[in-house]
Amino acid sequence: MDVGGNAAKGRSGFFRTKSVEESLRDTQEPEHALKKSLSALDLTVFGVGVIIGTGIFVLTGKVAKENAGPAVALSFVAAGVVCALAALCYAEFASTVPVAGSAYTFSFATLGELPAWIIGWDLVLELALGCAVVAVGWSGYLRSIMDNWGWHLPSVLSGGEQSGFHFDLLAFLLVAVLTAVLVAGMKLSARVTAVVVAIKLAVVLIVIVVGAFFIKGHNYTPFVPPAVRSEGAEAGIKAPLIQLISGFEPSQFGVMGIFTAAAVVFFAYIGFDIVATAAEETRNPQRDVPRGILGSLIICTVLYVAVSIVVTGMQHYSQLSVDAPLADAFKAVGHPFWAGLIAFGAVVGLTTVCMILLLGQSRVFFAMSRDGLLPRFFSRVHPTRGTPYRSTILLGGIVAIVAGFTTIEELAELVNIGTLFAFVVVAVGVVVLRRTRPDLPRAFRTPFVPWLPAVSVLATLWLMLNLPAETWLRFAVWMAIGCVVYFLYGYRNSRVRKPARQD
Ligand code: ALA
Repeated sequence: MDVGGNAAKGRSGFFRTKSVEESLRDTQEPEHALKKSLSALDLTVFGVGVIIGTGIFVLTGKVAKENAGPAVALSFVAAGVVCALAALCYAEFASTVPVAGSAYTFSFATLGELPAWIIGWDLVLELALGCAVVAVGWSGYLRSIMDNWGWHLPSVLSGGEQSGFHFDLLAFLLVAVLTAVLVAGMKLSARVTAVVVAIKLAVVLIVIVVGAFFIKGHNYTPFVPPAVRSEGAEAGIKAPLIQLISGFEPSQFGVMGIFTAAAVVFFAYIGFDIVATAAEETRNPQRDVPRGILGSLIICTVLYVAVSIVVTGMQHYSQLSVDAPLADAFKAVGHPFWAGLIAFGAVVGLTTVCMILLLGQSRVFFAMSRDGLLPRFFSRVHPTRGTPYRSTILLGGIVAIVAGFTTIEELAELVNIGTLFAFVVVAVGVVVLRRTRPDLPRAFRTPFVPWLPAVSVLATLWLMLNLPAETWLRFAVWMAIGCVVYFLYGYRNSRVRKPARQD
């Protein structure tokens, strides 16, 4: 394959690609290079640290109550299968193109500049809003613990459901502190993460092991509640797109409800793809990145299915709490001590999720800036810390403000559609890269190409179609804004077109 010729040919248009060699070379420029300090274990800890969070701690109760009943365990299996298929594609890409930026970098090497921009813009949405969602969830759990101790924040400084002006001070402070930790250095944040992940895992295991003693068989009947017709907005723009376009009357529960729930609890799996964003900071990416991605995904799937079976067995699905379902299930069976411990674990656990989402998004932004699609100012690394401090501070500041002013429900589904869209691009990218660069060394090869990526695309699209029509509209608006930014800035300043540019 003629790499130089291929790259040159692509330079004139939107589909100019950045060769894998160019991507790797960029990471070696001293002023723009990140420190390589992570191992496979660090990556798995990172993965589990970001994967287990608001999804299992908060969303499980809501979807069991409104969409799937005890069959929410099957929703976790469905979402887990979609993620496993995507993970097998991510692992090949990450082990071939071990450069900061995840799906953004992969698509630049395969599909070209415009698709890469689209995916990068999409990832910033996923990670930034995801981080804000988790910070708000964290703040809710912390307030509930503070309330138990009799400490109350003025309502204007509390988040949650309330009308009039209010600012979620705790969510804001969390993001601000985590931004400072990330600017201080990767190794520090990885060490902090390891301790916090251990606490979170212990709490999840407590839910499973202790909760199992309180399961009552009759709570599992009916396991798949019969379908009920939706009313009002739930039957219109808030209905899953598949129900609107298939001509069936929008409904909740039933078999379709399992998939509606799967499209929401998918949020619980977001994060394994972020392991790939840390590839450039990994000592041996070819071996360690696939291990980190698949390892963390398998651990989380097993835990989620177990937790959802236990919780829906402890309490009838119609009685589950929407705000803190895991802790409240223990209160409901008369064990407030365990409930308090679980709330504490949730607060600790959500901290790492928030931090790693913040890390991932600053790395994607960093990679886009290093390529000139966003101002190069943001891709200078810190002279002594070796961290991309400018992009981290900019995005951390924006996320802190968004977290101060928004609610979880408004944003979680938007985050999901953005992530699922990235899965489609990565699966297509694996097939394209096999054809355009069969020569590249691949430490991990996705099995059954092109069939497995094709099934991955179909399964991902199916989950996307189970998201509300409203979410599709919001996503379209965000992507349209991204196209405007690209044509006004990125297209003119791209380094792939002006490789000699320095600043
Ligand atoms: N998977 C992460 C969570 O559930 C984003 O919070």
